[in-house]
Amino acid sequence: MYFKQILDERCGCASYLIASRQSHEAAIVDPSIDIEQYEPLLRERGFQLRYVIDTHVHADHISGARHLVAEHGAELCMHESAKVTYPFRPLANGQELPVGQLRLRILHTPGHRPELISILVVNPPRSTEPSMVLTGDSLLVGDVGRPDFGGGDPAAQFDSVSKLLRLPDWVAVFPGHFEGPCGKGMCGRPSTTIGFERLYSPLLHMDRDPFVTALTNGIPARPLNMTAIEATNRGVADMPWAMLTSSPPIDEVGIDAIDSAPPNVVLLDVREPDEFVRGYVPGAVNVPQADLANRLDEIPRDRPIFTICQSGSRSLRSAQFLKQQGYHTVSSVVGGTAAWRAAARPMETTGTPSGPLRIADSEWAHAGAITTNTEEVRIPTSR
Ligand SMILES: [Fe+2]
Repeated sequence: MYFKQILDERCGCASYLIASRQSHEAAIVDPSIDIEQYEPLLRERGFQLRYVIDTHVHADHISGARHLVAEHGAELCMHESAKVTYPFRPLANGQELPVGQLRLRILHTPGHRPELISILVVNPPRSTEPSMVLTGDSLLVGDVGRPDFGGGDPAAQFDSVSKLLRLPDWVAVFPGHFEGPCGKGMCGRPSTTIGFERLYSPLLHMDRDPFVTALTNGIPARPLNMTAIEATNRGVADMPWAMLTSSPPIDEVGIDAIDSAPPNVVLLDVREPDEFVRGYVPGAVNVPQADLANRLDEIPRDRPIFTICQSGSRSLRSAQFLKQQGYHTVSSVVGGTAAWRAAARPMETTGTPSGPLRIADSEWAHAGAITTNTEEVRIPTSR
């Protein structure tokens, strides 16, 4: 067999090429939008792409699955419950896809999303037991996928990871993410084993109720442009530009710059509404980063913009996205509302919070490098 993990530093995602060296048939799992990167791997080894599998509808990055299928005449495969508008081959729990002598055995593991599947890789000439499992965003390294990306269910996630933990210790685990917003405590390693996670993953030692509580509370904010990205991956929108694909330099300013900003500045607070209502810098308007691409028409292009969040991570990414979309004068407020609050500056509130705050701000929830004020780095995209 041939097996390759391809890591995307931009979004913290992993995709996979699995092939038979005997029949030269191949499958790609969770392809990035940069589909050109798979071409030399297929061409140089003479692999025929037979299946493209999305383990689930992604909410943090645009899938390249439909483009790959169109280029190679392969079959696009997803779990039978996937609610997308384009045709695909529906997969059922327990079904096996042959790739030459290999078998890709489908295991339905909902929780992060209802349609999420894991894929057991079996190589019968060596063993009838699986040697590895591709887990999408169910079991991650040191973590599990969060359940609030659309139709997710923390109790279902508990059942799914419990099912995965019944696999033998030696089974190698290859997740859909090694960092980024799909979990909140990923280790950073790109792979692990069932045995190691069973022993050392803190979540996997919990009973159902504490597990559900841990997944429900203290979650990071929804990722940048999640609304547009998820809709695009379901086929109900066509916004591939909603993915941040560049890292333009951004002016990072302190909170004092808010006082001396020009009077027509737009102070754009990109936190979640539940954070915003608890206190914001006077004059700020709230457009959560998850909805930014969908709400660009609310953000004037002819006025300077300061983006602000709790600490400066989300505001930086949001500012980069606005620059990518042609906004010229965009700055990010370093330290964000936390610095404003720490300086005992006045804050305004609006509405009534619904219970305790569930959002936890963490730069770990953002994939890729954090620093920006260097040369622009542009990651090529296929389209
Ligand atoms: Fe995901």
